[in-house]
This record gives sequence, structure tokens and C-alpha cells, in this order.
Amino acid sequence: MSDSARAQRDVDHVTYYDNEFAERAVRDLPEQRVTRRTAYLELLRRERRRSVLELGAGPGRDGEAIAGAGFDYTGVDLAPRSVAACRSSGLETHVASVLDLPFPTGSFDAGWTMSTLLHIANSDLHRAVAEIVRVLRPGAPLAIGLWGDEESREEYWNDGGHFGPPRFFSIRSDQALHDALRRFGSVEQTATWPGRGSMHYQWVVLRTPAQRGAGA
Ligand SMILES: C[S@@+](CC[C@H](N)C(=O)[O-])C[C@H]1O[C@@H](n2cnc3c(N)ncnc32)[C@H](O)[C@@H]1O
Repeated sequence: MSDSARAQRDVDHVTYYDNEFAERAVRDLPEQRVTRRTAYLELLRRERRRSVLELGAGPGRDGEAIAGAGFDYTGVDLAPRSVAACRSSGLETHVASVLDLPFPTGSFDAGWTMSTLLHIANSDLHRAVAEIVRVLRPGAPLAIGLWGDEESREEYWNDGGHFGPPRFFSIRSDQALHDALRRFGSVEQTATWPGRGSMHYQWVVLRTPAQRGAGA
């Protein structure tokens, strides 16, 4: 994706999510996500991990649960209103892109990113995952949730202009997603649950290599 196309896509996402955050904030999360989140936080406790970075915090629905469970939570999101909403709930959150994170290498014990890497084109996915892995400590787990389908495709979704311009989505098959992630570590957990039409939600826990530089 060219720099100008990426910049326009980001502007469109900020417009959309800045308009949508209040509605999203009160939307219940699917039971499957909550169940997986609870189990993931248990894994982090067993591994004595303290700090969790969320990529694409949105209005903080997962962030509140992660911080509420006693972890040191930090979130980033492109959309300033979502970040302001998180901050007003007491969550440490910053306006930043997953493609350029404002943290030193090896800052966090674990990562969490739901429904966000689907806004990153396949041509940028390597850069995004490499940047996330950079700011995690070696051996850290990274939980990823995305909308997927049997066939990969990139497209714009239009909600009729209610919240803003059409949003860019990269929908990946399970195989394509797992193949892309395996370049960065081992795919430790996978699961899916049904969504709209032929789509399904993809859950992955990626384990980053125990030594920096191995794997990717
Ligand atoms: C579908 S929402 C999901 C929000 C939250 N994770 C949730 O499940 O409610 C996608 C989020 O990703 C954010 N986003 C889109 N592109 C991003 C990027 N390049 N870096 C960081 N956040 C991004 C959007 O602003 C939006 O808050």
C-alpha cells in the first residue's frame, strides 16, 4: 500500500471510529471473546506476566477488564475520541498506529489485539506484526482476534455513511493468517466462532520467540 493510500485509509478510520465509539462502548462483547479473554488472563497469571499492551483499544471494553483483573494496562488506538474515552475510564492509552509504536523494544509482557489487524493491508501486515513483536518481551504471548472467511479478500465496508466513510478490511482465510503469523513465532492456540454470513471470528495466540531475532 502506498504512503498516500495508507494515510487516507487512516483518516477514514479515525473519522469512522471517532463517530462510532459511543455506540461501540455500550455494545456487549460476544460471549466467546469474554471466555477466551478470561482464559488468556489466567495464562498470563500462570506465567507471572504483569504488563499488557492492547493494539486498537477502541473505547476500552477489553481494556477495562484487563486493568480490572490487576494487570498493568497500556492501550493504543488511532482514533483520538476512543483514546480520550479510555483515559477518562482511567486506562493509560495513547494515540498511535500499530505500524509505529511509541515504546522502546521489549516494553511489555503480553499483547492483545482484537478486530484491528483487519484494518491493515496484507502488504503492511509484516511491518505491523514485526512492530508489535518488537515492543513485546521475547517469549511473550500475543492474543489476536480477527474476522475471517474461507477465501482471503481486501475490500471496503460501507455502513451507508452513518458513522463515516467506508472502512478498509483485509479478511483472511485461517490458513493465510496462520501462515503470515508463523513468520513471527509459534501459533500456540487457534479457535474460530461463527459470525455474519460466511464469516467467522478467528482467535490466535502467537508465542513470540524466546530470543530476539529468532523466528521473524
Ligand atoms: C473494529 S474496532 C475494534 C476496537 C476494539 N478492539 C474492540 O474490539 O472494541 C478497530 C479499532 O482499530 C483502530 N485502528 C485502526 N487502524 C489502526 C492502526 N493502524 N493502529 C492502531 N489502531 C487502529 C480503530 O481506531 C478502532 O478503534
